[in-house]
Amino acid sequence: MLCILILVFWVANSTFARGDHNPNYSCDFGDAPTVTQITEPIDHSETPSWDGRRDMLYYVDVHTGRVLSYNYDTGKVHSITLGSGSIGPVVQTKNKDVLLVGFNRSIVAVEWDGKNNMSKKTVLTQVSDRFPDSHFNDGKTDKNGRLWWGTMGLTPDIQNQGALYKITSQNLNKPDVVISPVNVSNGLAWNKANDKFYYINFPARKIFAYDFNLEKGEISNQKVVFDLEDHKQLSGKPDGMTIDIEDNLWIALFGGGSVIKVNPTTGQLLNKIAIPAQYVTDTMFGGPNLDILFVTTFKYTLTDEQKKQQPAAGALFAVKILKTKGRPVFEAFRKCEMRKISWFHCNYHQIK
Ligand SMILES: *[C@@H]1O[C@H](CO)[C@@H](O)[C@H](O)[C@H]1NC(C)=O
Ligand SMILES: *[C@@H]1O[C@H](CO)[C@@H](O)[C@H](O)[C@H]1NC(C)=O
Ligand SMILES: *[C@@H]1O[C@H](CO)[C@@H](O)[C@H](O)[C@H]1NC(C)=O
Ligand SMILES: *[C@@H]1O[C@H](CO)[C@@H](O)[C@H](O)[C@H]1NC(C)=O
Repeated sequence: MLCILILVFWVANSTFARGDHNPNYSCDFGDAPTVTQITEPIDHSETPSWDGRRDMLYYVDVHTGRVLSYNYDTGKVHSITLGSGSIGPVVQTKNKDVLLVGFNRSIVAVEWDGKNNMSKKTVLTQVSDRFPDSHFNDGKTDKNGRLWWGTMGLTPDIQNQGALYKITSQNLNKPDVVISPVNVSNGLAWNKANDKFYYINFPARKIFAYDFNLEKGEISNQKVVFDLEDHKQLSGKPDGMTIDIEDNLWIALFGGGSVIKVNPTTGQLLNKIAIPAQYVTDTMFGGPNLDILFVTTFKYTLTDEQKKQQPAAGALFAVKILKTKGRPVFEAFRKCEMRKISWFHCNYHQIK
């Protein structure tokens, strides 16, 4: 059954992709990676974040203001709507009932158990007053609980209206600007030692690395560690990414119908997994063993013809048998929590 699904996906994929998918897709169980569609398609699934406390993957539908949860145990998807605007990222906090969500240029704390109605929401801060039409795009939490969240202009082709911010429970009133300007702030990851920070400035076909000082929360010494221009067979542009326990990056190729695995230390391209959707938006390891690569995709701007050719575009996919796994994501604003005040209370109090 699985084998047939994979074949169907691969055949569907090969009808629209421009060229470079690996045709050696094997049905050899236990060996080759498998790619499975696990949800119904939505317009633009993005910024997946795995929460092992609930066996749940949170993600968003960027243009409909929805935060979604995929329950790994039941396969069910639930959602809440924050309003009309651009949504994402979504990250978890020390309190498993409180998520932080990007809504336009604001960070909103949302009380939600991933299933029932949202019980409360509070705006914690707003950034980028200079660019009123800009909005958050991607963001992650570092080991010390700081948010590294970045913005973009109204659409991806609007240039130089984005920035990467560093947000802590102390600087909510005026978050630090870390990189500015950028086009579309994207694709963040830290290595295991927490001395490297990886970053994508979409639509540049490059992966950047910085030295990372965890104690100070500072980055320096920007370098290009992988340039898609050196791999002409790779189409598309790097979008979101995640990192595995061996510190290799898993990068979504928007327009490239695939996820690539790259060693950022040697610059080697290690693997390429075809996904049956041309626009692949982001990746995240999850599942009870953190060994499933969840992949989000997009159908928002597809023509009717393209939607017919790639009916699964917009769905969430699970890639298994990758022979590696990820690390759990960090929870936001931990220091505040460590003062024994409930997380929500703590931040709510600070913005009063
Ligand atoms: C597919 O497998 C054949 C035989 O092992 C190999 O020669 C070829 O390069 C492979 N193709 C790709 C795209 O990896
Ligand atoms: C959730 O919200 C809907 C719509 O506002 C409402 O009809 C329903 O009763 C609510 N459910 C719970 C459990 O509060
Ligand atoms: C979000 O931003 C868009 C673009 O600037 C705007 O049209 C929309 O009204 C905003 N939504 C809210 C709730 O402010
Ligand atoms: C934004 O994109 C344009 C076109 O790709 C590029 O020339 C420019 O350098 C980019 N800006 C930044 C800040 O990266």
